Amino acid sequence: MEYPKASQVVSGLEFLAETGSTNQDLASLAKKTDLPEFFTLVTDFQSAGRGRLDRAWEAPPASSVMASVYLKPRFENQSGIGWISLLVAQAIKKTIGDLGVSANIKWPNDVLISGSKVSGVLAEVSQDLSSVVVGFGINVSQEEKDLPVQTATSLLLAGASSLDRDSILASTLSNLKAAYAELSEAGGDAQACGLRQKLLDSSATIGQLVEVLFKDQDSVRGRAVDIDDTGRLVVKTQTKTLVVSAGDILHLRAHEQDD
Ligand code: BTN
Repeated sequence: MEYPKASQVVSGLEFLAETGSTNQDLASLAKKTDLPEFFTLVTDFQSAGRGRLDRAWEAPPASSVMASVYLKPRFENQSGIGWISLLVAQAIKKTIGDLGVSANIKWPNDVLISGSKVSGVLAEVSQDLSSVVVGFGINVSQEEKDLPVQTATSLLLAGASSLDRDSILASTLSNLKAAYAELSEAGGDAQACGLRQKLLDSSATIGQLVEVLFKDQDSVRGRAVDIDDTGRLVVKTQTKTLVVSAGDILHLRAHEQDD
């Protein structure tokens, strides 16, 4: 499927009928070419879609929006880069809201509808920190049997008013451009441009009892109380307060104990 509406929103958009991973492709392309900011790669099918924490991202052909966007942040405040995946999640949340469905954000990169994941974001920063490839997948027309896990959902299942992938991508890119311009104008200060407050207001995580699972298999339980000025999650356990920049977050039920 071509994406005529989305092509109008950004300075360059390339459609691939199928590929391994648009994040991988865009990172390789950026090494060879001087890409304009917001250059976008979009595909109908990925055979090696990547998720956070070395997970796979899977979707049947033509069932979802899968795209990667090239950014070259020049923020005075380096911590601005830490907000990019949250900024994209917020752009997707707005797009879904405009389709008549309320969504919120599970820190740091999942968009949820009634607690089920409809979208995920993967921001990958280049080695020299000069650019970011940010990819996102939005489940659009999957039936329950098409979803990879029971905790996922799609816009179809949520009753969204449109399932037109081109319009959904166009809206997301347009929301992303507006929010990114605000963050850039504020020099990367997410507090000053209002992004931090928007995320606190739309967070599915803040106020929740959570379990943080670290890469080394270690884990800690506590209550998520804040997102700090660099985009990290602040978790209060019974004995300490810690800031989490990476790790998997499980939302716990009320009866599950804090550490
Ligand atoms: C996650 O939920 O862990 C993030 C998923 C990100 C998936 C998207 S689909 C388009 C882009 N290309 C990839 O290989 N991954 C991202």
